[in-house]
Amino acid sequence: MATERTFAMVKPDGVVRGLIGTIVSRIEAKGYRIVAMKRMRIPRELAERHYGEHQGKPFFEPLVAFITSGPVVAMVLEGENAIAGWRAMMGATNPADAAVGTIRGDFATTIDENVAHGSDAPATARREIEIFFGEDGPLD
Ligand code: CDP
Ligand code: MG
Repeated sequence: MATERTFAMVKPDGVVRGLIGTIVSRIEAKGYRIVAMKRMRIPRELAERHYGEHQGKPFFEPLVAFITSGPVVAMVLEGENAIAGWRAMMGATNPADAAVGTIRGDFATTIDENVAHGSDAPATARREIEIFFGEDGPLD
């Protein structure tokens, strides 16, 4: 275990549904530090880069269309085991499989609009933080 930084996002459905506060509140209650946070509209090129691993899959185009459809809240979280820990707080990708008590389990019903994003590994976290917050990462 080590102090890690991970990239987290409230997706457009979470913003539209007024879940920013609830999600930020859960992050703070857990004990992660929010070391960077911004509300933004994701440009298409950035969305395609962020989800590059899914290029060519049937859900890629709808996913990019959805993630660029409205503002998101992008964050960098810091804490012990934060990468796996934030994934655990979000729950399974498909809300139908996500446990009650997780963000996706509590607030989503369909896989295409599942409220939150989190990096899945240290290399992914570094890559996603750089995409959204630049080479130097958060200044905090
Ligand atoms: O977000 P996560 O890392 O849990 O899942 P992913 O496998 O990296 O997929 C990225 C996102 O694509 C998911 O969060 C879903 O919003 C979307 N997706 C989808 O719409 N349909 C699928 N069959 C798989 C993923
Ligand atoms: Mg993923």
